[in-house]
Amino acid sequence: MSLQRLDVTGVRNLHPVTLHFSPRINILYGDNGSGKTSLLEAVHMLGLARSFRSSRIQSAINHDAEGCVLFGQVQLAAQEQRAIGISRQRSGDTTIRINGQSVRSAAELADCVPLQLINPDSFRLLEGSPKLRRQFLDWGVFHVERRFLSAWHRVQQALRQRNSWLRHGRLDAVSQAAWNREVELASNELDDYRRAYIARLKPVFERTLSQLCTLDDELQLSYYRGWDKDRSLGEVLDASVERDRLVGYTQAGPQRADLRLRSKGHNAADVLSRGQQKLVVCALRIAQGHLVSEVKHGQCIYLVDDLPSELDGLHRQSLCRLLEQLDCQVFITCVDREPLSECWQSTTPVSMFHVEHGRIVQMHGPSE
Ligand SMILES: Nc1ncnc2c1ncn2[C@@H]1O[C@H](COP(=O)(O)OP(=O)(O)OP(=O)(O)O)[C@@H](O)[C@H]1O
Ligand SMILES: [Mg+2]
Repeated sequence: MSLQRLDVTGVRNLHPVTLHFSPRINILYGDNGSGKTSLLEAVHMLGLARSFRSSRIQSAINHDAEGCVLFGQVQLAAQEQRAIGISRQRSGDTTIRINGQSVRSAAELADCVPLQLINPDSFRLLEGSPKLRRQFLDWGVFHVERRFLSAWHRVQQALRQRNSWLRHGRLDAVSQAAWNREVELASNELDDYRRAYIARLKPVFERTLSQLCTLDDELQLSYYRGWDKDRSLGEVLDASVERDRLVGYTQAGPQRADLRLRSKGHNAADVLSRGQQKLVVCALRIAQGHLVSEVKHGQCIYLVDDLPSELDGLHRQSLCRLLEQLDCQVFITCVDREPLSECWQSTTPVSMFHVEHGRIVQMHGPSE
């Protein structure tokens, strides 16, 4: 899959523009503050109806505009095209259309345009809260396991009910047992999907990492399901009713799941250098893209903001080679185009765009 064409109006400092992209490598270069990240943000909004830079999408709307409009033409693998339109008003009103049909949920959009973002914030995947790693994990499971979304909703609902009676209600023992049982059944289903996904992700991640750096021998990826590995969730919930009641919520369960990355017994975020952390995050995201490509018609679209930062020439080259081998559409931003112009094989279609004061001009090729 690839984004063939994008019309952008009213996003940050970008002047209204229509762009035609390479199905493979697209490089956006320009000075600080020129609008490179804003264009990645526009592609991201097209795929997820939200920005990656701020939780308030309103801040992505140009200061002088009432709203932003994005229109994208996506080429799917089997000669099938999809037209996606999103408009977002300052008032908060949002319209999403796929092939002219209104779409209610952003999940439908995410299903249509799977995106992988690698940006300076991506380090947070290693050093940030488990929630970020759970989101990363669930993004992958969502794309490869059709039943994931309903299992996830079932868990949320069961937990809401249990938390509600923990806080307010005095339920009789039979009803309590019934709710604990429902949380347990729903959680086991979710855990099965996550576990199966990790079993597939792990070898692909290790292979990918070995192509990027020499850390693969010492780095361990493991999955924590969110409760004691030696007891069933039912046992844990039964035993923790009083403690849960004191804090007012369910403390153990898949809402606590995490991915753990350890290097020689230490938390990877505590011991790896910035560059190494970037490579590990890239390997995780590229591995995820591989798995999604296996089950979906098309592949993921990769957004790599500021690719050269933190990386020396050799690692930059390895990362570019890997992105090139992925056979996916990739959008890369950088300040100077030189370090990235020599990284591609002559047969790979590379498009270069120069971004200057919010204007984007397509250059004809890497050598020009
Ligand atoms: N809502 C907005 N309306 C207009 N301009 C905005 C808005 N939000 C941000 N800007 C401006 O848009 C410009 C482009 O920012 P952007 O982050 O895209 O730059 P960049 O090319 O990625 O720079 P860098 O190389 O520093 O990462 C900035 O000058 C910023 O001040
Ligand atoms: Mg930027």
